[in-house]
Amino acid sequence: MKLANKHILVAVSGGIAAYKSAEFVRALQRAGAQVRVVMTESATRFITPLTFQALSGYPVHTSDDASFDKAGVDHIALSRWSDAIIIAPATANIIAKISNGVADSFVSSLCLAHQSSLAIAPAMNQAMWNNSATQQNITTLKERGVKVFGPAQGIQACGETGEGRMLEPDDLVHHCIALFANHSLSAKKVVITAGPTVEPIDPVRFISNRSSGKMGYAIAGAALEAGAHVTVISGPTHLQENERINYVHVETAQQMYAAAKEHCIDADLFIAAAAVADYEPTNIADQKIKKKDDTLSIQLSRTPDTLKEIKLSHPSLFCIGFAAETENLIQHASEKLRQKSLNMIIANQVGLSNQGFNSDFNAVEIISSDSTISLPRARKSELARLIIKNIADQLKKEASQTNVTYLQSK
Ligand code: CTP
Repeated sequence: MKLANKHILVAVSGGIAAYKSAEFVRALQRAGAQVRVVMTESATRFITPLTFQALSGYPVHTSDDASFDKAGVDHIALSRWSDAIIIAPATANIIAKISNGVADSFVSSLCLAHQSSLAIAPAMNQAMWNNSATQQNITTLKERGVKVFGPAQGIQACGETGEGRMLEPDDLVHHCIALFANHSLSAKKVVITAGPTVEPIDPVRFISNRSSGKMGYAIAGAALEAGAHVTVISGPTHLQENERINYVHVETAQQMYAAAKEHCIDADLFIAAAAVADYEPTNIADQKIKKKDDTLSIQLSRTPDTLKEIKLSHPSLFCIGFAAETENLIQHASEKLRQKSLNMIIANQVGLSNQGFNSDFNAVEIISSDSTISLPRARKSELARLIIKNIADQLKKEASQTNVTYLQSK
């Protein structure tokens, strides 16, 4: 079951190959995927939504279909649900729309909102496929990371012969499996802290910060994709949870530390992406503090440094920290790398309006003792995949160095 637990959204656009998409849905299910289907209006003239509803077990959403309101599902929620969106068949028209960012239908809006992998299985007349407009659109999509499955050569529905046939359902499934063929953290146990902590002052007030948890949650999703067993120790966030990730909900820095100690015992990797309060009120008032004087002082005490303590008690655990800095990014982050004896630190500049805290975008520097890798501004989900790839590479490198040392000492 190579697609076990994967959520695949099949978007059917209006070409004669739409009839093959029914078999494609079945083949994906046989490979273990959960499948949902959306259709363009013109696709419904080739094959009915009812067919796909019966096959997938879910309502099928079309461009002007009111049922998706009734079901409480919109294009944003569906795109978040999916690990991959596959447009099959993808007509020249939908390809042109998505390469230009047009959002005039349910399917095109969904593609614009996607954060998961996006792939297309083109199907059209050979002249339309070879037209430079289509080829240019395909080049644009490939440059943006969209995967193109096919098309195949052969006799076409219109009677002509050439390139433009949609790949057969089983071939498409093999391409889908390859999309997820990342076993870089296979069977590793990964513990991730994410989000802010909340330190109570009295029963109604607290000290916290602007962290949304988006980066930590995106890293958790990427680690899951790479085959890891993932536990997220999360401060309060408004983010959607993934049913395949184990979440431990905490509020304070103390609770985060306690949860990390418990879950890191048998972990292979600890990633501290949370924005943890460095200080907590020394005393929490039992009753709501009343205003009396012109000024009010609240005494604060240091919280436990989860990352530092975990590394101290598990020196061989591969530990990754985050450094959010407003100035001297590399210098400050490198100091934290050394102070906390980390294997790696991920540094990002904060205080910029279009990335970092609360944004869907970020740009980071991945710093280890022997290298610094810059990852330019990208969507956090995309960045998370690259970060996980770098972590897996570094983990492998350190493991092989340990093996060499072990062999030399024997
Ligand atoms: N961290 C932690 N526990 C804390 C504080 C921080 O686990 N009590 C982790 C964060 O999750 C992050 C890294 O340590 O991975 C950040 O290091 P830190 O030196 O605490 O950063 P800042 O709090 O930003 O430090 P400073 O205010 O001194 O810049």
